[in-house]
Amino acid sequence: MPRSAEEPALGEAERRHAAALMRVNHCGEVCAQALYQGQALASSSGRIREALAKAAREEADHLAWSAQRIRELGGRTSALNPLWYAGSLALGYAAGRLGDAWNLGFLAETEKQVEQHLQGHLDRLSPLDATTRAVIETMQREEAGHARTAESLGARELPAPARCAMRALARAMTTVSYRL
Ligand SMILES: [Fe+2]
Ligand SMILES: [Fe+2]
Repeated sequence: MPRSAEEPALGEAERRHAAALMRVNHCGEVCAQALYQGQALASSSGRIREALAKAAREEADHLAWSAQRIRELGGRTSALNPLWYAGSLALGYAAGRLGDAWNLGFLAETEKQVEQHLQGHLDRLSPLDATTRAVIETMQREEAGHARTAESLGARELPAPARCAMRALARAMTTVSYRL
């Protein structure tokens, strides 16, 4: 896990807030696992399945880092993860069935939204919490890389209503998993 050399002690409220933000990110990474698996299942292109598998390996790291950081902060993961996993698997499979260009377009849009979402977390995290920041910054960089990969493979830009629906769904997930 990416880690800062300095780890100043955090106040109780800061620590709880960071643990909740990382619970949201952990839930997001559970969804990423399911989306990639669903998309790979439905894709007929070997080239795309290979790119998905490579990104999925980085997502597996993100999942493990988020879980580890939550433990270090004394938090817990979301009780609703299995539900989000199932929904994301179905969504990824549906995207994959729309053909390669839309499948990649869905992937690129997901990763762009995740990257922006992580920026929001960096803005809300305590500046003292250097290790949580290091984890999020590394994830953010890799998510941007996933979006670029999808674009270089021929992602088609999703129509605005689809992008809005994805944002709404993500907002529901992040709001619920911050608490539960
Ligand atoms: Fe990720
Ligand atoms: Fe990603």
